[in-house]
Amino acid sequence: MSLNFNTIEWKDNQLYLIDQRILPQREEYISFNTVSEVAFAIKDMVVRGAPAIGVTAAFGIAIAARDSAATDYETFKQDIGSACEELFATRPTAINLKWGLDRMKAVCEANQELLLPELKARLLKEAQDILDEDIATNRQIGAHGATLLESNQTVLTHCNAGALATAGHGTALGVIYSAVEAGKNINVLADETRPFLQGARLTAWELNKNEVPVKVITDNMAGHLMKLGKIQAVVVGSDRIAANGDVANKIGTYNVAILAKAHNIPFYVAAPVSTIDPETAHGDDIPIEERPHEEVTNFFQQATTPKGVAVHNPAFDVTPNNLVSAIITERGIMRAPYGEAIAKLFN
Ligand code: MRU
Repeated sequence: MSLNFNTIEWKDNQLYLIDQRILPQREEYISFNTVSEVAFAIKDMVVRGAPAIGVTAAFGIAIAARDSAATDYETFKQDIGSACEELFATRPTAINLKWGLDRMKAVCEANQELLLPELKARLLKEAQDILDEDIATNRQIGAHGATLLESNQTVLTHCNAGALATAGHGTALGVIYSAVEAGKNINVLADETRPFLQGARLTAWELNKNEVPVKVITDNMAGHLMKLGKIQAVVVGSDRIAANGDVANKIGTYNVAILAKAHNIPFYVAAPVSTIDPETAHGDDIPIEERPHEEVTNFFQQATTPKGVAVHNPAFDVTPNNLVSAIITERGIMRAPYGEAIAKLFN
């Protein structure tokens, strides 16, 4: 699969992001030049998807380093610390954000002996390494996950866990791209994924661009199609996996998992190890982001609810581990009991 767009790119000493708010109408790339601009890009979902957020935040720190006027290490470290805080405050659920920031902070602390220009270059290299590693990690997830899919299957996915959500070819969609590359004939059903429409706008856009057959369905159609025998597997990504294997992902994933269980359809989660949070014991401990209510009350500037009506808009839900058939990481395929399998990964 040759990806013909870059979700995140460092070019001419600037960070470029494809603007995911306006896809599929327009394919536009915007450069972000300050920490506050990068924080805005994450919060406003110019860039979204857990691994992509982690990579972008790392470049945010490289920008903070580049622009720091500090002349001594302690002041420089403070500049990096406050940039980390600003970026960390953008979105609470995806643990890859913290993972990327922690990695940048660790490099800053481990290289105190360097002159500041050298340390700045080292931090930029770390951000680029995180991006390059994400590409390689996606490939490994794809290779492992592709073994779970058979030719002529129809696979349901929810949200977008593809190239637009990572620096590479994706996690859940990476599994599908790798299966297609291996010669399997895979048809994809993309849940539209209200309210932000990551499935309808983004998953359909990138699968189309890569000529993988895709049909979009509204979120309430999956049960009907499963009952008719039209879906053979579900593959989704994740924003955070707790130490017990509970999976936080885009709102609506839990519904899909219950439906899959009821119809005896395998429900797979594809995610890098950086999405697993060994410090969060249980899915109930994962913070769930509440997004602006206008995402629910309006549909592309058109009001769809009475003025002033109250709504809920949690951006994620948690699927309990007993509904998960397997978790696919770059290190292989994990099966229940997930607590043990995850503990082994981190020991
Ligand atoms: O709110 P978003 O669009 O950032 O949510 C994205 C998801 O829920 C993805 O499924 C998840 O981050 C995995 S992306 C490889």
